[in-house]
Amino acid sequence: MKVLSVVGARPQFVKLAPIAHALAPAHEHVVVHTGQHYDELMSDVFFRDLGIAAPDVNLAVGSGAHGAQTAAMLAGLEPIFEQHRPDWVLVYGDTNSTLAAAVAAVKLHLPLAHLEAGLRSFNRRMPEEHNRVLTDHAADLCLAPTAVAMGHLADEGLADRAVLVGDVMTDVLYQVRDRVRAAPPALPWEGPTGVVATIHRAENTDDPKRLRAIVDALAELDRPVRLLAHPRLLAVAAREGIALDRGAVTATAPLPYPDLIAAVLSSSGVVTDSGGLQKEAYLLRRMCTTVRTETEWVETVDAGWNVIAGDRLDELAALVARPIAPEPTDNPYGDGRAAQAVVDTLAERIAR
Ligand code: UD1
Repeated sequence: MKVLSVVGARPQFVKLAPIAHALAPAHEHVVVHTGQHYDELMSDVFFRDLGIAAPDVNLAVGSGAHGAQTAAMLAGLEPIFEQHRPDWVLVYGDTNSTLAAAVAAVKLHLPLAHLEAGLRSFNRRMPEEHNRVLTDHAADLCLAPTAVAMGHLADEGLADRAVLVGDVMTDVLYQVRDRVRAAPPALPWEGPTGVVATIHRAENTDDPKRLRAIVDALAELDRPVRLLAHPRLLAVAAREGIALDRGAVTATAPLPYPDLIAAVLSSSGVVTDSGGLQKEAYLLRRMCTTVRTETEWVETVDAGWNVIAGDRLDELAALVARPIAPEPTDNPYGDGRAAQAVVDTLAERIAR
């Protein structure tokens, strides 16, 4: 079987790692990087630390407005798909890279599989939500991480294309957690970690008033806040004159994946608008406070390990200080072997 993966942004490199390992050596795997994320710390370190071979192709599309960025990817991907004609084009998650690859694949009648299918925030202001919905409906195979995601796919009439495989980010997390526990990396700050924070979503960074209020609330927390600053956050903060390093907050560069896991393990909790980090906090049993109005990973909230802060920024200190939740009784994200289930499903469907 020949699989062509398209990735472009940081969380996709994490998802690619277990898939690349599960495909090798039995299957042929072509990896195309769109270049949506290009900084060393947003891209290269993930390939290095997670043991993924360098991409076969890098389109180096870079940053831009949604339309220009997605269009450049679409134009760049088409000839590569034509050249390789894989058995499956595999796309990951919800970024502009995902959407571009999905559109390019279906127009060339190439079988399309969507990993992390069926996630919904039901927030139509999020660019990611449109990327998810459009990709799921274009896909021939929707590889769902959770039972809840399977339910959303069924609600949209996609049940007969949907397969529950589990969450591949859980595969990586468990492996890296064990490595990090055995040999913890040094973290880039003095003293206790306190809270690990990340803020990068458009809904929090596009409006400077909202961003300023979030940083104000973080600065007033009663414990150190290690803010791992995404380039989008840094760019808006610089443009709008919003100081990040103040009060409780120390801003640092984004961390490589093993260091991020070590940071969460050494923390008392997480404050974030990232999807992946909410789930990582849950799996590492750290309390998460989500600076959004909803989440796709509802299992973390139902289990009591995640709370949606929404507009309650004035309550952030109390939310962060809440006691830890009871140990979960189930395992909604699977057993850490989702990538093998993905490869088995792809191979079985191609045989049909
Ligand atoms: C993208 C995804 C989002 C995902 C996130 C993970 C879309 C619509 N959004 O958001 O779903 O959670 O990636 O990080 O695809 N930049 C750099 N260096 C980089 C990458 C980005 O400086 O390596 C800066 C650029 O100024 C760019 C901005 O960050 O304009 C935003 O990058 P972009 O690719 O638009 O999306 P993200 O916010 O990272």
